[in-house]
Amino acid sequence: MGYLEAGALAHTLADGRELFRDVSFRLPGGETVALIGDNGAGKTTLLRILSGALPAGQGTVRSQGAVAVMPQFIGSLRDGRTVRDLLLSVAPPRQRAAAAAVDAAELALMDHDDEPAQLRYAEALTAWGEAGGYEAEVLWDTVTVAALGLPFSTAQFRDVSTLSGGEQKRLVLEALLRGTADLLLLDEPDNYLDVPGKRWLEEQLRRTRKGVLLVTHDREVLSRTATQVVTLEGGSAWTHGGGFATWHAAREARWERIAELRRRWSEKHEQLEDLVRTLRRQASISDEMASRYHAAQTRLARFEAEGPRRPRPARSASPPPCAAAAPRSGPSPAGTSNSPASCAPSTWRSSSATASASWARTARARATSCACWTRAAPTPRPPSATPAPAAWAHAYGRACSPRPTGTPNGRAAPPPTSSAAATATGRAST
Ligand SMILES: Nc1ncnc2c1ncn2[C@@H]1O[C@H](COP(=O)(O)OP(=O)(O)OP(=O)(O)O)[C@@H](O)[C@H]1O
Ligand SMILES: [Mg+2]
Repeated sequence: MGYLEAGALAHTLADGRELFRDVSFRLPGGETVALIGDNGAGKTTLLRILSGALPAGQGTVRSQGAVAVMPQFIGSLRDGRTVRDLLLSVAPPRQRAAAAAVDAAELALMDHDDEPAQLRYAEALTAWGEAGGYEAEVLWDTVTVAALGLPFSTAQFRDVSTLSGGEQKRLVLEALLRGTADLLLLDEPDNYLDVPGKRWLEEQLRRTRKGVLLVTHDREVLSRTATQVVTLEGGSAWTHGGGFATWHAAREARWERIAELRRRWSEKHEQLEDLVRTLRRQASISDEMASRYHAAQTRLARFEAEGPRRPRPARSASPPPCAAAAPRSGPSPAGTSNSPASCAPSTWRSSSATASASWARTARARATSCACWTRAAPTPRPPSATPAPAAWAHAYGRACSPRPTGTPNGRAAPPPTSSAAATATGRAST
């Protein structure tokens, strides 16, 4: 059945901006795992790393079984490719190489129809056959008939730019879903598809025995196909082990755990700061207290460097009433798990512990005040944190009212910063 595993992947853009880090998840064979996130969160980049098209800055990709990729730009191809070229571009590498050799041998034969050229052509055809090329041509005939209503012999030289966006998508999807790859990485396959096309795709994803990593922004497609959801947000990723129907509840529960961990961290931080202040005063009048003062300073620095603990995997809540269940395997043992780092920012400044605690409480209260209005419940973050990716969360969310009161956008207000704590930095690794 195959599988694919991402282990602590990180990627930094050419301009030095860290796109994501500590991204870990598993795509098991037979499952449709949705990869969701804001525009620009890094989903396409992550898929390119998983497929080997882009080297990972850090981390590992392990897989078993053949992997095939549908790039996001299928649907808007205007680069002079033919239907055959497009089908070859998503074929196994060995077939691509064999087809290129056949093309080259044919061209050579046109220039010089001599014995060596004929021999090279014969060899290339043999290699094409050994690479499963003739079986591929039979498959492509089925594919072009299904997607375009034309036999491959008629469709193969047609310029892809003359196909509609939906026809381009359907052509590649037919080829991948009927093909031999065990694992499919599909980047927004539902784009350009009309409603019947989307329903067809959902049905295919429910029926396939392949492992599918599916990037989509369509809530219905997500609800009807995903058996797990990997969420790329805040510069990292977390995995919900159930379908999209239980994702909102899992995300809210996760926020609550993060807020609770940060509240506890802030309380402990305040105690340590008090201790350091007390020992500093005592050390100024007694040399004997100097070593204890330095030890407390070291302990505080270590505590701040570690940051709040990460939330442990937890069972997600039951599905919200207004969401549909993923049909393939239903809401599986719906748990959430965390990648090594989650949606927390990589660094943030610690602030007044009391203020942080009350801020986290406010955020939690708002998170629970409306169970399905995701935008109102940002991941509790200390000041200076990466802004919560709220816009797309709302887009994935379900309609719910009333909008919680608070700041104009409904977010919980961050706590005031304290000048005393402004110098203390720590790593939030929730
Ligand atoms: N070659 C590059 N040079 C500079 N920035 C890049 C490059 N490639 C990608 N990026 C940036 O990386 C970020 C992630 O891009 P990516 O295409 O992976 O996002 P995405 O999650 O797939 O978004 P969308 O949902 O819009 O498809 C974007 O901000 C993009 O501008
Ligand atoms: Mg993309």
